[in-house]
Amino acid sequence: MQTNVFCVFFVIHAILCDNIDVNSPEFAEQLYIKLFKRRRAEQLEAVKSFQKISSYEKQYSMIFLASEKIFSVIQESRAQIEASGFIPGVSQFPTDEKARDALSNILENTALFTEILLRFPDISTTVLKLNNHWDVLLKWSIIFCNEAHNLLDKTTLKLLNLASQELNHTQRDPNYVNPYRKTAKVSNNNNNDANEDIKREKRKKRKEIKRGPRLTNSHFEL
Ligand SMILES: *[C@@H]1O[C@H](CO)[C@@H](O)[C@H](O)[C@H]1NC(C)=O
Repeated sequence: MQTNVFCVFFVIHAILCDNIDVNSPEFAEQLYIKLFKRRRAEQLEAVKSFQKISSYEKQYSMIFLASEKIFSVIQESRAQIEASGFIPGVSQFPTDEKARDALSNILENTALFTEILLRFPDISTTVLKLNNHWDVLLKWSIIFCNEAHNLLDKTTLKLLNLASQELNHTQRDPNYVNPYRKTAKVSNNNNNDANEDIKREKRKKRKEIKRGPRLTNSHFEL
């Protein structure tokens, strides 16, 4: 009986005294993890709206403009976070507002770009090939995000992993498929002549790239 009373007292004491420091890095971190999830849901809606654009050219320019913005933010934030001395996965959540903004900018913009990349792989890899410095920066930011995995949810970590494979930044798993690439599903049909299948797929892909509908009606979920 007496131990029970003591335990209850101890739990209440813990709730009141240990968890109440709203200015602590731990509290800020927990808050940020929740906020990050909400941001990701908003991003997903935005990226899905790109899929409603029916012209390839329009999609291309939307993605190019988005990339320009995304990578300029990541570049600037990288300089800030490096200057702040923050080390992902090692340092505690930054209490300094500037460092915190830089950190969230890197995490959110990297997640946004990888979301675009996987849903629009052909356009995005073309954009990256023509702007190699973005590809180099993306490599850095994906590594950074993986190191800061304590701040990210499982879905985002999976997305980053798929993106690294899609870009051949890391070696592809033999079973790798981009779950958003429609052709990956279509090529699973029961045609014995695999070569013919591939040829047909390629012809189809070429046509679809010209018209662009493949990108408008794919809506897979992770
Ligand atoms: C990655 O490698 C695969 C297999 O070699 C290739 O088909 C694909 O085009 C490459 N992707 C990029 C973005 O370089």
